[in-house]
Amino acid sequence: ANGYFTYDPGFMATAACESKLTFIDGAKGVLLHGGYPIEQLADKSDYLETCYLLLNGELPNAEQKTEFVDTIMKHTMVHESLTNFFRGFRYDAHPMSVMVGVVGALASFYHDSLDINNAEHRQISAHRLIAKMPTLAAMCYKHHIGQPFMYPDNSLSYSENFLHMMFGTPCDDPKVNPVLARAMDKIFLLHADHEQNASTSTVRLAGSSGANPFACVAAGIATLWGPAHGGANEAVLEMLEEIGTVDNIDTYIAKAKDKSDSFRLMGFGHRVYKNFDPRAKVMKETCDEVLAELGLDNDPLLAIAKRLEQIALEDPYFIEKKLYPNVDFYSGIIMKAIGIPTEMFTVIFATGRTVGWIAHWNEMISNPYKIGRPRQLYTGHTARDFVALDKR
Ligand code: SDX
Repeated sequence: ANGYFTYDPGFMATAACESKLTFIDGAKGVLLHGGYPIEQLADKSDYLETCYLLLNGELPNAEQKTEFVDTIMKHTMVHESLTNFFRGFRYDAHPMSVMVGVVGALASFYHDSLDINNAEHRQISAHRLIAKMPTLAAMCYKHHIGQPFMYPDNSLSYSENFLHMMFGTPCDDPKVNPVLARAMDKIFLLHADHEQNASTSTVRLAGSSGANPFACVAAGIATLWGPAHGGANEAVLEMLEEIGTVDNIDTYIAKAKDKSDSFRLMGFGHRVYKNFDPRAKVMKETCDEVLAELGLDNDPLLAIAKRLEQIALEDPYFIEKKLYPNVDFYSGIIMKAIGIPTEMFTVIFATGRTVGWIAHWNEMISNPYKIGRPRQLYTGHTARDFVALDKR
């Protein structure tokens, strides 16, 4: 209370929303989607099956899975006029700036015919977004490097198709390495949803006004871009490359401890996990598999990452601050090994997270909801009379 206003402590409670999709226990490092542990989904399921789980609350049976996969793969192409939209961007525009634009533009293709109060229309929106995000992501990359766009090949799996659109060309379209496709699928799966993180909360708040779901997801992409959130995977690689050798690690550990120029170890820490991030453990295993498959076991960045992790897990400062590797710590090393440039890392994160965003949007719109209206703690002037210009 500042003598003018008194605050109801109950009002101060952080607004929380109800959801059945994902459960996190940050203290125990637990992440469940529909009750299934992320470790089991990563090991036994795949991305599209997890998409079905997030959209429907249950894992699909064989018939449901076949129908869902067919529906998604049937809609991987985007309207040909969207290719013109890409050409309006400079080739060196950050791919996340392009994704915000083109996903927002999708709203113009699905606006007049879309009734968000119609459950079937909501399902169609979800399916179209999941189907088209890899195509748009790959188009971002092709525009960035000046190569022609590759059309989807729907005879491939979802993640094989993405790598085909990323690295194939009309002149040379080699078979996708199944180990890399499986790693890509795990990266999408591990990023699928994460409860009320900043970008998902943005999608929910935007959706609470009744806005077009494609525009709401574009708002989520904008939020994810920040280095404190989805942009961290790009920042991890930049940090590892700046460290350069294992010998330099101590200097950076010291910078993190004394917070010199507010330096933070990218890929460490989490708003919720104050123990290990279960996704990071799976990502580390996948990283080892991919680098072994590509004969990159001696990748210097991996050596720096592993040494950094070991020091951070043993150092009393990081233990006291509860700073463990998060989902972004190893994902960048995997993506670099696959051949994805750092500026595309957060686009990959957004592609995987699209199902989480649209599942949360659908869950909110499917139930009675009100427009979001965060309140504030006012710390400005109390009421006062206007002062004429010649008196100031
Ligand atoms: C994601 O919400 C989600 O679920 C997000 C996400 C998802 O799937 O959607 O999980 C994805 O965003 C993962 C996080 C990726 N970001 C990074 O890796 C960037 C580096 N990490 C930090 O910036 C930070 O850890 C946050 C933002 C992730 C979490 O910050 P918190 O929990 O709010 O912690 P804090 O900022 O209050 O810091 C607590 C203390 C501080 O020291 P003191 O002021 O107590 O002395 O820990 C220190 C911080 O200085 N600290 C770090 C640090 N993170 C926090 N010190 C060094 N390196 C770090 N990374």
